This record gives sequence, structure tokens and C-alpha cells, in this order.
Amino acid sequence: MTLLGEFAKLFAVFLAIFSFSFQGASCQLVVTPADPSLVNALAGSNVTLAVSFSGADDPTVTWLMGDLPVVTWIIATGLPPDIPENRRKVLNIEKNGSLTFVNVTLEYTSNYTIELTKSGLGKSRTTFTLEVFERIQNVILSAQPDVAIEGAERFTLQYSMLQGVVQQQMWFFNDIEIKSNSRYTVEERSLVILGPNRLDSGSYTVLLTNPFSSVTTRINVTVLYGPEKPVLEALPAQPFYLSGDTLNVSCRAEGVPLPTAKWLFGTQIPDQFKGVLNLTNVQSNQAGNYTCTLVNEQTKEELQRSIILKVYERPSGIPMCSVQAVNNVSLQYSCMWSGGTPKAVLSFPTLSDTSSRVENFSLIFNASDNLNGKNVACMADHPVEQNQCSITANNPMMFRPTVRTKVSSDGKIVVTIECVSKASPEAVVSWSQGNETSPAGTTYQISINATQLQIRDYNVSNFIFQNYTCTCSNPLGSQRRAVQLQGPSISDFSLFRNHNGTIITLTWEVPPTSVVTGFDIQLKGPDLPDKHRNSTQNRGSANTFHTIHQEPGSIRSVDFFLDPSLTYRFRVIPKALMTEGEPSEVQRTGPGEGLSGPAIAGIAAGIPCSLLFLVLLGCAIYFCFYWKKNKRRQTRYPVSRAVEKAITTHKEVTPHNLLTGGLKSPPDYNKLNLNPSERSMALPTFVPPAPVRVATTV
Ligand SMILES: *[C@@H]1O[C@H](CO)[C@@H](O)[C@H](O)[C@H]1NC(C)=O
Ligand SMILES: *[C@@H]1O[C@H](CO)[C@@H](O)[C@H](O)[C@H]1NC(C)=O
Ligand SMILES: *[C@@H]1O[C@H](CO)[C@@H](O)[C@H](O)[C@H]1NC(C)=O
Ligand SMILES: *[C@@H]1O[C@H](CO)[C@@H](O)[C@H](O)[C@H]1NC(C)=O
Ligand SMILES: *[C@@H]1O[C@H](CO)[C@@H](O)[C@H](O)[C@H]1NC(C)=O
Ligand SMILES: *[C@@H]1O[C@H](CO)[C@@H](O)[C@H](O)[C@H]1NC(C)=O
Ligand SMILES: *[C@@H]1O[C@H](CO)[C@@H](O)[C@H](O)[C@H]1NC(C)=O
Ligand SMILES: *[C@@H]1O[C@H](CO)[C@@H](O)[C@H](O)[C@H]1NC(C)=O
Ligand SMILES: *[C@@H]1O[C@H](CO)[C@@H](O)[C@H](O)[C@H]1NC(C)=O
Ligand SMILES: *[C@@H]1O[C@H](CO)[C@@H](O)[C@H](O)[C@H]1NC(C)=O
Ligand SMILES: *[C@@H]1O[C@H](CO)[C@@H](O)[C@H](O)[C@H]1NC(C)=O
Ligand SMILES: *[C@@H]1O[C@H](CO)[C@@H](O)[C@H](O)[C@H]1NC(C)=O
Repeated sequence: MTLLGEFAKLFAVFLAIFSFSFQGASCQLVVTPADPSLVNALAGSNVTLAVSFSGADDPTVTWLMGDLPVVTWIIATGLPPDIPENRRKVLNIEKNGSLTFVNVTLEYTSNYTIELTKSGLGKSRTTFTLEVFERIQNVILSAQPDVAIEGAERFTLQYSMLQGVVQQQMWFFNDIEIKSNSRYTVEERSLVILGPNRLDSGSYTVLLTNPFSSVTTRINVTVLYGPEKPVLEALPAQPFYLSGDTLNVSCRAEGVPLPTAKWLFGTQIPDQFKGVLNLTNVQSNQAGNYTCTLVNEQTKEELQRSIILKVYERPSGIPMCSVQAVNNVSLQYSCMWSGGTPKAVLSFPTLSDTSSRVENFSLIFNASDNLNGKNVACMADHPVEQNQCSITANNPMMFRPTVRTKVSSDGKIVVTIECVSKASPEAVVSWSQGNETSPAGTTYQISINATQLQIRDYNVSNFIFQNYTCTCSNPLGSQRRAVQLQGPSISDFSLFRNHNGTIITLTWEVPPTSVVTGFDIQLKGPDLPDKHRNSTQNRGSANTFHTIHQEPGSIRSVDFFLDPSLTYRFRVIPKALMTEGEPSEVQRTGPGEGLSGPAIAGIAAGIPCSLLFLVLLGCAIYFCFYWKKNKRRQTRYPVSRAVEKAITTHKEVTPHNLLTGGLKSPPDYNKLNLNPSERSMALPTFVPPAPVRVATTV
């Protein structure tokens, strides 16, 4: 208890000392903030800068707004505080010196200093900072300039708002905070992007805060660029297209927004489908320079590209080569391949000529031997196809004139002599008769192409034995042939029987230059049976030849039924209208043929003779053998002489060969000229041989 009492005494002493010292201190005027000296206030609210003071009961209080005194008052007096008229609505001073703002407005944001003075007690002061805020509302982000373009110097994002006081702003790009650096500058109410590029496209956010509100606002920014990396191509890519092909011409470029294509082909043509021109069944008039302009519709930036489309067309058909005579001394080689796009380029490399022309090319050369038979090629060059043709010029070939005879409706003999010689260029034919340059008069007529000479006359003797000459010529040479017509004649006459001898076939030929319009078949012997092989009726005229049949000039064989047990003799008379020629030789058919009366007599006489002949033959062989043995020692010279002579003789016998000039020889009629007994031999079967037509030969 004493301890507690002593502690109580000690406390009382301490209290007395403390109380004394406090009393002494209260002589000093002191003002202290009752709250933190930084005060945030929302506009429109009531706010108090609260202070407490000590040291005097009635000091003079002065509130300074910044340096400007706004309230002066001597506390505890009945006098009203001295407040400027315009601030009275807002400012109010409390009895304890605190300053109250009623319905505070933004303009009261300031530093406030309270000064207490009391004469004799000095002065005391303390300072508050009042910040008045409004709620942030309706923040809008805007861009300056409107669109961001890559490569511009700067691009600015700015915020604006209906109201609000911002204490802090923060910027975010795709939700990552932006710090000021070389590319970004955060200014008072904006973000500046220096040298924007396409990577700066994205979402920008600004976060605005004050103690009473915080607002986030977002804007999407697209940095425009392009057109760049333009591509203009035709697909499928080909050096050229054929008319009828289908292709797309595509024009595109990178950029934001995607560049659009404008087409120019002569004039503006519409874009079909996002920079693609579809050309189906393309024609050569669609070939040319296509220009595509790529436009960034927003930045109006442009790029231009051009492409040359080639549309080709093959010339029609194939190249044609020809050679023509010019003035009958020169040769004009021509080559033609018409149509097509482009035109084909033609040249004659084999003529050692380097020039060339398109579509149609001719070269003229003097005819010379080295052009004769030379294969001249024309090279035809076209991008679609390379082709060629060739032509060979030849001098006129050997030829054989042909002679045809017919009877015209007005009863004249019409003989046509035709001269056709293979030649390139085609040979020109000219005619002469005897020593005259060309046959004259109405008797003669030359066809328009001059290959045929027609002779018309009632009487064959008026024109046979004349020499008609035709000449076929071109610049490389000429061939000349003479034709001497001869009267009606038969060159060969044969008879064939079927195996039982009931049918015979007569065949004959006429020489190539013979003029024949018909034949009389004459018979000597019993009358022929009729087709039913009835017995013959009349044997009265059996001893003279009489005409049993007539044939026109084109016929070369005729069949007859006959009685194999009887003997007949046949011959043929050639005729040129009324003029009769030499009768043919006579052919006999009948039993015992080959053993005619004289023959039988000969055989009868021959049997003893042949025995004698055998003896003589044996002697002859012996002598011959003996003689040859001797001769071996002699020179053989005379033998080869004999052979030579035989050949020469043979040539003379067949004069046709001289004229045919190595062409196919006519049949050797001498060989066919068999003796009667051989000729009337029966054939194994009845096959009438095809009549041998021999081309007319001079
Ligand atoms: C502020 O003070 C005035 C006057 O004393 C009063 O009428 C008003 O209701 C107060 N306002 C608020 C929000 O307290
Ligand atoms: C000063 O007076 C006001 C109003 O009378 C009161 O609200 C405030 O609390 C007082 N301040 C102090 C520190 O006593
Ligand atoms: C507060 O002040 C504002 C503007 O000064 C005024 O519009 C409003 O009516 C005032 N409010 C009050 C309660 O006095
Ligand atoms: C308040 O005072 C401080 C320092 O004394 C100063 O930095 C500030 O700018 C002042 N504020 C106003 C609104 O005058
Ligand atoms: C910005 O872009 C995003 C997605 O890219 C989209 O969801 C958003 O709505 C856009 N905002 C504005 C303001 O255009
Ligand atoms: C053009 O061709 C392309 C590709 O073949 C096709 O996709 C497109 O539809 C065509 N456009 C027209 C307009 O025919
Ligand atoms: C194609 O046309 C464009 C525009 O007219 C031009 O600039 C370009 O030189 C032309 N190209 C050719 C190869 O002529
Ligand atoms: C043509 O031959 C006949 C005699 O056959 C003669 O009289 C004539 O003078 C000849 N004419 C010429 C041009 O040689
Ligand atoms: C020439 O003309 C004749 C008749 O006018 C005709 O039969 C012949 O075939 C023609 N020859 C040639 C090579 O044109
Ligand atoms: C026809 O020519 C042959 C030989 O070439 C000659 O023998 C004959 O006398 C000529 N005939 C005529 C009528 O000139
Ligand atoms: C003879 O032969 C032909 C056929 O070759 C035959 O038709 C005919 O009846 C034969 N005649 C006799 C009499 O045998
Ligand atoms: C002979 O011919 C006649 C008709 O011309 C015919 O009526 C008759 O029967 C034939 N006789 C014989 C034997 O065939």
C-alpha cells in the first residue's frame, strides 16, 4: 500500500511539473493539421481543412490560397469572418479555425496556408494542399492524322473527355504498358508514335485515373501500307498462247488495305475477279500489252506493272512449194503458207539465199543445169510449228505421143495426138506439121492446154503420112517427138481355141500410129453354127473370104462358136471409115491342124529321107568336131565380129526402140509371129488372154 501511495505521490508531482511546463508552453501560439495535409476532394462535395490550435483563445486566423488571403477572422469575436464576396458561397471558417469548402469546385485546387497571429504570442502557420477532382467521364481516343500510314513521321493518339481531372495516364499496346522511349513519347494528353510501321497495328489502350475514378479506353489502329511486292502474271505461264487457250492474268500486291487492280488494255477494262482477268478462248486480238495498276484505295498509293501477252495461231494447211517458168528462161520458186499469227517466215536455204519473207516468198533464178533435178526446200518457221516443203524443177521427160481415133457424130474421122511430158514447171507444148510452124486450117484443132492435136477429116488419106511434131519445153530443156500417122493396118493376129475346140478367140493389134475406126472379120469355110450349135446350113461360099462380123475400132478380140470337126480360115480387115487397109494374115482352125496336106506328104517322104539324114548328121558331127579342133589354134577375132553384126541387125529390125528412148519397149511382134501350126495349137484351158493393148509409140 505504501508503495502504491508513494507512486501516487510521485505521479502527482510529475503531473504538477508536466502541468506547469504545459502551462508555460501554452504561451506559444501553435496550429497543427488535424488530418493529413494532402486532401483530395471530389468536386461538388464538402471538404474541411481541419486544424487545431493552442496558445491563445482568440488569435487572428488568416487562410491563404496560394499567396492570396481568402479568409481573415479573429476567432471568438462576434464579428463575421472577412471573406471576399465571390468566395462566400464556398468558403466557411469554423470556430476552431478549420476551413470548410461547401460544394467545392475545381478552381479551389491550391495550396492553403493557415496563419495564426496573436500580439505578443508570435505567429504559427501550416500548409495544406487541396486537390479537387471530377469523375472521369466519356473518354474518347482519337488519332492524328486520321489514318496511320507506314513511313509517316509521326502518328499521335489523343484522348479527350467530357469531364474529369486526370491524375495519371497509362498507355498500353496490345495490353503491354508502353514506356516512353525512342519510338514512343507520352505527352500530356497523347501518345506519339514516331515513324509508325505495320507492326504498330493493334489495339491501344489508355488508362486514366484519379482518386475517385479510373477509366480505360481502347482504340484499334491499323497502319496502312502498300501496294508492295506486286505480281503480274499469266497462268499457266507460257511464252505464248494458242488462240482458243484459256488463261488467267493475275495482278496482286501486298498492302493494307488490300490493293485493288485496274486494267488497261488499249482502254480501261473492268477487273473481273479481285485482280484476275479470265481469258477463255483467247484470240489473237487479245494479244498485247496489259497494264495493271494496283491502288491502295485509302492511301492512294499506286504501282504499275505490264505484261505482254502473245497469242499465236498456226497458219492454215501446210506450206506449199511451187516452181513456175518466167519468160521460159527463168525459174520462179515460190513458197506460201498463209494465215496464222504471226505470219510464218519463209526462206530457201538450199538456194544459198539468206533472205526471208513472211507468208509468201518467191525467188527467181535463171534456169541452169544445176537447178535441174535439184530438190529445193523452203523452210517455214512459225513459233507454233516449223514446217517445210520442197519442190524439184525438172526438164521435160522422154515421152511417147499417143494416138486415138474415133468417129465424130458428123461422120468424120477424129484422130487425137497427145503429147504429155512430165516436167516441172509444166512443159509448154507446141506443134508443127511438116516444115510449117503449126498445123493450120479447120482440119486441125489444138486443145486449150496445147497437149492435144485433133485432126478431123472424112478421108484418112488427107492426113496420113504427114509428120506431126510436138515439142514439150520448159526453161530447163525440151523434148521433141514426131508422129507419122499411117493408114489402117493390123500388126498381129492370133487365134486360140478352148479345150474341146468349140469356141475360138481371135485377137489382133494395130500399130500405134495406125488410124483405124473399125474391123471386118472375114471367114473362109463353112458357115459358123449359131449359138445353139445348130448344124451349119450353107457351104456355098466356103471358098472365098466373106465378112461375118464387124467390130468398132476399139475392139481387139472376138469369140466364135464353131464345129470342131470342120476347118475354118479367118482374117481381119482394118478400116478407117471407107478406106480399107491391108488384110491381116490368115488363121486356120480345124481337124488335122499341124498336119496339113503338104505336111503329111512331107512326113511320108521324110521317113526314108530322115534315115539318110541321120547318117549325114553323124558325118557332119564328126567333121565339125575335127574342124573345131583345128580352129582352136586360130584367132577368135572373126567370131566377135559376127556377134557384133547380129546385134546391129537386131537393132535395125526394131526401129521403135530408137524413138522410145529407153522407155518400155513395145512387144516384139516378130516373136509373136509364129507359124500357123504352132499358133493353132489348143490351149490347155479356155482363158481368152487379155487383149494386149500397146501404148502408141512412134
Ligand atoms: C454541405 O454543406 C451544406 C451547408 O452546410 C449542406 O447544406 C450540404 O448538405 C452539405 N453537403 C454534403 C454533401 O454534405
Ligand atoms: C473544428 O470544428 C468543426 C465544426 O465545428 C468540427 O467538425 C471539427 O471536428 C473541429 N476540429 C477539431 C480539431 O476539433
Ligand atoms: C454546387 O456548385 C455547382 C456549381 O458551382 C452548382 O451547380 C450546384 O448547384 C451547387 N450545389 C449546391 C448544393 O449548392
Ligand atoms: C503547393 O506547394 C508545393 C510546394 O510548396 C508546390 O510544389 C505546389 O506546386 C503548390 N501547389 C499549388 C497548386 O500551388
Ligand atoms: C479492336 O479489335 C479487336 C480485335 O481485333 C476487337 O475485338 C475490338 O472490338 C476492336 N475494337 C474497336 C474499338 O474497334
Ligand atoms: C476466273 O478463274 C479463276 C481461276 O480459274 C476462278 O477462280 C474464278 O472464279 C474465275 N472468275 C470468273 C469471273 O470466271
Ligand atoms: C505497256 O504499256 C504501259 C502503259 O501504257 C507502258 O508503260 C509500257 O512501256 C508498255 N510496255 C511495252 C513493252 O510496250
Ligand atoms: C515446106 O515444104 C514444101 C514442100 O514440101 C516447100 O514447097 C516449102 O517451101 C517448104 N516451106 C518452108 C518454109 O520451108
Ligand atoms: C488438156 O486438155 C484436154 C482437153 O481439153 C484434157 O483432156 C487433158 O487432160 C488436158 N491435159 C492436161 C495435162 O491438163
Ligand atoms: C516424115 O519424116 C520421115 C522421116 O523422118 C521422112 O522420111 C518423110 O518423108 C516425112 N514425111 C513428110 C510428109 O514430110
Ligand atoms: C466344150 O467346153 C465348154 C467349156 O469349155 C463346154 O461349155 C461345152 O459344153 C463343151 N462342149 C462339148 C461339145 O463338149
Ligand atoms: C436349131 O435352131 C433352131 C432355132 O434356130 C431350134 O429351134 C432348133 O431346135 C435347133 N436344132 C437343134 C438340133 O439344136
